[in-house]
Amino acid sequence: MPIEAPLLEVRNLKRFFPIRRGLLRRVVGQLRAVDDISFHINRGETLSLVGESGCGKTTTARCILRALKPTAGEVLFQTAAGDVIDTAALPKGALQPFRHQMQMIFQDPFSSLNPRMTVFDIIAEPLLANGVKSRDQRRQRVEELLELVRLRPEFMQRFPHAFSGGQRQRIGIARALALNPSLIVADEPVSALDVSVQAQILNLMLDLQDELGLTYLFVAHDLSVVKHISDRVAVMYVGKIVEIAETDRLFKAPKHPYTEALLSAVPKPDPRLRSERIVLAGEVADPAQPPTGCYFHPRCAHAIDRCRSETPKLEEIQPGHVVACHRAREITLKGVDAQSNGKPSA
Ligand SMILES: Nc1ncnc2c1ncn2[C@@H]1O[C@H](COP(=O)(O)OP(=O)(O)OP(=O)(O)O)[C@@H](O)[C@H]1O
Ligand code: SF4
Ligand SMILES: [Mg+2]
Repeated sequence: MPIEAPLLEVRNLKRFFPIRRGLLRRVVGQLRAVDDISFHINRGETLSLVGESGCGKTTTARCILRALKPTAGEVLFQTAAGDVIDTAALPKGALQPFRHQMQMIFQDPFSSLNPRMTVFDIIAEPLLANGVKSRDQRRQRVEELLELVRLRPEFMQRFPHAFSGGQRQRIGIARALALNPSLIVADEPVSALDVSVQAQILNLMLDLQDELGLTYLFVAHDLSVVKHISDRVAVMYVGKIVEIAETDRLFKAPKHPYTEALLSAVPKPDPRLRSERIVLAGEVADPAQPPTGCYFHPRCAHAIDRCRSETPKLEEIQPGHVVACHRAREITLKGVDAQSNGKPSA
């Protein structure tokens, strides 16, 4: 059987921001927001990108959609026609015909919808921009999209303020789906919502993935949100990917001490297990002045001399499980059972 190309392949992606100081705003250094990361997402799959605030998740997402020009690296996207394009290299104009195939769902459903536009205008805007001139056709498509996100079509004449946070996120999703994208980049799509509503939106995203064959890059800062919706998880720390594995494996048998610490913060229903949370010493490293060697070494309970001087490379330690840690093969870390809501694994 021929091996299918992934829908998205990110190779050695970097995005640096200049650090300016003084009256003349001279460039005195580079903030390495995304620092040489590689991963792929297969068609129909959900890959989650997880890590603490400031580790470079949004910058990665924006580079993929070319809202930001990468400093270096390739972003290979398989178009609907089957060609592979490098969105990092194409001039913006040449990218235009493919833009509708990759869409974003934003974190904040309150600020991402224009309060002066009706739901119809919000969802129909991308249709109009892509040449659907007939108002009837737009109306019909908006109706379809509202049904798809389980909202009543008669809502289309209302303004965003009439809706709850969860409903607004549904409107945002309908808008993202308007032009039949294949890749959806969802940047913390539920973190601004109440916990009870979060599950509804996640379930909707899962249903839509089944119905429409969507591929998701799902960005989140904690692992508890992603465990039920991801096929694989990539963990980021200070601009670098430190571990990628299938969700079950990553939860049950993490190989990077940072992943273990993130897992220990996943809420556990049994109060006797709550004391096991690993509280990381020190602050998350500054991407403008990262530590030497492994960026995680100042906070790592397993650090040895080598970790302070030598940067660990991402290595495949089992098929599909890659880790950047000098000690990944020798230390045993604690995971949780991904299927049972935070129960520790044996
Ligand atoms: N336009 C910019 N100019 C300068 N620095 C930036 C810019 N955008 C992001 N950064 C810096 O790049 C780093 C990564 O930021 P990014 O927003 O990608 O992180 P994140 O993982 O999405 O964080 P959060 O969880 O808070 O959303 C941070 O140190 C941030 O301050
Ligand atoms: S390389 Fe060393 S410091 Fe880094 S995570 Fe592994 S053990 Fe910890
Ligand atoms: Mg972000």
